[in-house]
Amino acid sequence: MVGTAALTAGLLALAPALACASVLPRNSEQQCKADKKPNIVFIISDDQDMRQDSLGSMPRLQKLLVKEGTKFERFYSPISICCPSRSAFLRAQVAHSTNITDVRAPYGGWPLFNEFGYNGHWLPSFLEQAEYDVRYVGKLMNGQTTNNTAALPAQGLVDSAFLLDPHTYDFWNPAFSTPAGPVEYRFDEYSNDVVTEKALKFLDDAAQSPDKPFFVGIAPIAPHSHIAWNDTSRAMQIPIPHPRHADMFPDAKLDRSRDSFNPDVPSGASWVRKLDKLSDENVEYIEDFYRARLQALQSVDEMVEQVVQKLEDMGVLDETMIIYTSDNGFESNAGHRRQPGKTLPYEEDINVPLVVRGPGVPKGKVDKTSVYSLTDLAATILHVSGAQADFDHDGAVMPLTHELRKRADWNGGAKQFHLSEYWVENVVEGKYAKSIETGNATYRGVRVVEGDDIDYAYAVWCTNEHEIYDMKARLSCGVPFVLQRRIDATCTCCAMQKDPNQMQNIALNDLSPSSWHGRLHTRLDALLLVLKQCSGESCRNPWRSIFTNGKVTTLKQALDRKYDDYFAQLPRVKYDAEVSVEIVEQV
Ligand SMILES: *[C@@H]1O[C@H](CO)[C@@H](O)[C@H](O)[C@H]1NC(C)=O
Ligand SMILES: *[C@@H]1O[C@H](CO)[C@@H](O)[C@H](O)[C@H]1NC(C)=O
Ligand SMILES: *[C@@H]1O[C@H](CO)[C@@H](O)[C@H](O)[C@H]1NC(C)=O
Ligand SMILES: *[C@@H]1O[C@H](CO)[C@@H](O)[C@H](O)[C@H]1NC(C)=O
Repeated sequence: MVGTAALTAGLLALAPALACASVLPRNSEQQCKADKKPNIVFIISDDQDMRQDSLGSMPRLQKLLVKEGTKFERFYSPISICCPSRSAFLRAQVAHSTNITDVRAPYGGWPLFNEFGYNGHWLPSFLEQAEYDVRYVGKLMNGQTTNNTAALPAQGLVDSAFLLDPHTYDFWNPAFSTPAGPVEYRFDEYSNDVVTEKALKFLDDAAQSPDKPFFVGIAPIAPHSHIAWNDTSRAMQIPIPHPRHADMFPDAKLDRSRDSFNPDVPSGASWVRKLDKLSDENVEYIEDFYRARLQALQSVDEMVEQVVQKLEDMGVLDETMIIYTSDNGFESNAGHRRQPGKTLPYEEDINVPLVVRGPGVPKGKVDKTSVYSLTDLAATILHVSGAQADFDHDGAVMPLTHELRKRADWNGGAKQFHLSEYWVENVVEGKYAKSIETGNATYRGVRVVEGDDIDYAYAVWCTNEHEIYDMKARLSCGVPFVLQRRIDATCTCCAMQKDPNQMQNIALNDLSPSSWHGRLHTRLDALLLVLKQCSGESCRNPWRSIFTNGKVTTLKQALDRKYDDYFAQLPRVKYDAEVSVEIVEQV
């Protein structure tokens, strides 16, 4: 990819690290210091989508978290695969900053995380330094194994039980680390239930130090694919629900009304465009896969209820922030002729659940407009806990609480864009995955959502293909279009989305700089140009690097015709020879 002197100059103006005081208007400093630190329970499921509304299949979570807290509908994964995404969270950095870009060596995994010196310079340690007792149970990241857990202990935690490879994705045979070193094997026990048991124990332990705030991380593997611990082929199979949930959702069906559902013509770019239409048997299998994911999530739903109950019993429910999210999204709906999987710049893969309840968090609120990621969530956790990273991280503080919502307004509004990055190796899952051609999986993408006016997804692939989708919501009366949701019972007027399933790539139109699509393209390109190499403040405020006078802070403003010449002369985002070499090396 190419850079420019003009743009890089803007990137050098870095803001100081986000401390409590530095992000609030001056008169709020006192209050910030005086506030009691909330306890934090952080629940992160594995590969849970937002677009297929898996949250809707979790009634306890709906009652105890969604109704009691705020649900963020525009929350994203920095990179749609687990270890890099979790690393981005644990460091409050975007993926190109952590440089953890794959799940395994040489570009990712727990040993590399340690090699890069991140263990000890990460969220648990920063929370520890802010007087928190930090505990964590479940999956931290790939590459923590039964072999290396003793040699590479995680720092900053008072107690932990990490799921260890090769048992991590075995629903029935988990193995856990122990702080003392020996591995705890739990053969023939259901992983999610053991995680719940340990989480409740950690909460009991936290209650022993009532004077200290606590952070408990809970990371069940559902609804990730199952990988048997002793299967040397590491085949990714249908998730395994507990028998008590195995008969649920008999009527769960794939949404065949989506225009992306196993379409007659190929769609998308790169390897997706080469996919064959799925056979009926394959579609049926994906439907089973989808149902099993909902079933596997039920043990997580039960866990949510037990955790809330435990906090209530401890008398700390009102002073505890409960955060529910996932590491990346997932497509299991036969969209774009795909097998079950993740890694793409499409909404299914990058949009993840985020529900938060707790002190100061608005109740029953659905935030449809602000656009944030796990990187930002980590920055926000640091902020509300009064903790500080020992480097200039990339995260922006989210409007999680009433107080922070005011701050977002003071700061010119909430964030409205998101950078999606991906490198090297795609992941397709299930029994039909073997025959799938992979490769050319690298891309950089940006999502821009500005109220009801602007809703674009843009991606540039390492093949130099471009994708732009206009996903804008529209109010439409009596016109049959892609129906999204009913506004009134008879649906005389319906809220529509133009291209919610990302099927009509408008980058295939004339992109000459004077055309409408070309003008849009130059703006999206400039934004991506900054974001793909951003660091610190330029990740939070990329428009500042494009308009150093601060006059333009949104895509809508940037689309003004008077800036056509300025954008037209900026360099285009493309993969050049240099980067191709890097990609070849990485394969
Ligand atoms: C990222 O990590 C890889 C090794 O995994 C290394 O070869 C490369 O130089 C690193 N890039 C940067 C910018 O540090
Ligand atoms: C652990 O080490 C043994 C012996 O070297 C090896 O066979 C096994 O594959 C290793 N397991 C993992 C998960 O790395
Ligand atoms: C794998 O382990 C399970 C028990 O966890 C056992 O039932 C099964 O036979 C083993 N499979 C192989 C191929 O060793
Ligand atoms: C990757 O893309 C290039 C350029 O489009 C193409 O020549 C090559 O065959 C692709 N490789 C794979 C593995 O699809």
